[in-house]
Amino acid sequence: MPITTRICRLSGTEEDGKIYREAGEILRRGGLVAFPTETVYGLGANALDAGASAKIYAAKGRPSDNPLIVHIAERGELDRLAAGITPEAEILMEDFWPGPMTLIFSKKDAVPKETTGGLMTVAVRMPEHPAARELIREAGVPVAAPSANLSGKPSPTRAEHVIRDLDGRVDMILDGGPVPIGLESTIIDMTGEEPEVLRPGRIRLEEIRAAVGRGKIDPAAGVQGTSDMIARAPGMKYRHYAPEAELTLVLGPPEAAAEKIRGLAEDSLRRGRRTAVLCPSEDRDRYPGIPVIPAGSSADPESTARELYRCLRALDEDGIEEAYTGELAQEPFREAVLNRLKKAAAHIITTGETE
Ligand code: TXA
Ligand code: MG
Repeated sequence: MPITTRICRLSGTEEDGKIYREAGEILRRGGLVAFPTETVYGLGANALDAGASAKIYAAKGRPSDNPLIVHIAERGELDRLAAGITPEAEILMEDFWPGPMTLIFSKKDAVPKETTGGLMTVAVRMPEHPAARELIREAGVPVAAPSANLSGKPSPTRAEHVIRDLDGRVDMILDGGPVPIGLESTIIDMTGEEPEVLRPGRIRLEEIRAAVGRGKIDPAAGVQGTSDMIARAPGMKYRHYAPEAELTLVLGPPEAAAEKIRGLAEDSLRRGRRTAVLCPSEDRDRYPGIPVIPAGSSADPESTARELYRCLRALDEDGIEEAYTGELAQEPFREAVLNRLKKAAAHIITTGETE
């Protein structure tokens, strides 16, 4: 049964106060509110209410063993959610909160297992986006929020994406315009021997090491190692961001990769397939006669991060059957963008000699 979704455009003025009060009320009563954060839009529910968390899984069509991130507005709120907060964690929070960093701790009893997908740990983040902070304050409860997309779709970076996926499935959508970062937060597991990055994001391993002197990356985060020839991306399990189009990611030196992409895309067109290449806007001319979806500018990695999910959604909107891409962004988003491309790709090819 579809429900009526209220879509509220935030103006950034005092008039928003009424909207936040209503949204906070919905959350306290166990309802669902989608809202912008600096990374991607989130789909919020009261994190301490098992029934409310369960609604998130139903609205997204998400498997119930996939845990949610709990969002807070003040450091003090962490103490009733998490145990074993180490001095290293304090340093990371001091340096990177509010911001695009999620930390995993042992959970306290106040957090229901419905929120943590049955795990004894809890993921917590303090977002920086003013709308997210205002909503959490008004709600007066910690807010569990996965990305506000249907399970399997790219994360939403604009309110239009949320509306397309969740209209009729949630109580309210707060439209705060396009988000500033465009890729999900860096997730760091703080329960092990040393901080371990489980999902790369805007906050890089180098910055974590600079802050606390150590840290590692989970090899299964999908950012290390490349494959020879054609390899299946590691299992359906990892195709979280998959477009309907069959995406091939070509790795290798830029010239060789572009050459390979051009050849593959031309072949796909000859086979009569609806084809597109994703590339930085400057590289358009490398693909004459091939439909191109520009993904930001190579001179501005921030723009690529912001545009990536919109571009993946555009593949489906345009009915593309085969899409080709190389690496799209340099630091500070190289690892995070490559990670998402690997997860979205059906095939990963390595070409040419590595430099
Ligand atoms: O930037 C973000 O993190 C966004 C915004 C809305 O804050 N949220 C987001 O949530 O990306 P979601 O649910 O799409 O991704 C959360 C990821 C999932 O891969 C989940 O498995 C992992 O975090 N996660 C959550 N709790 C965990 C835990 N206790 N242990 C390990 N992984 C956990
Ligand atoms: Mg997600």
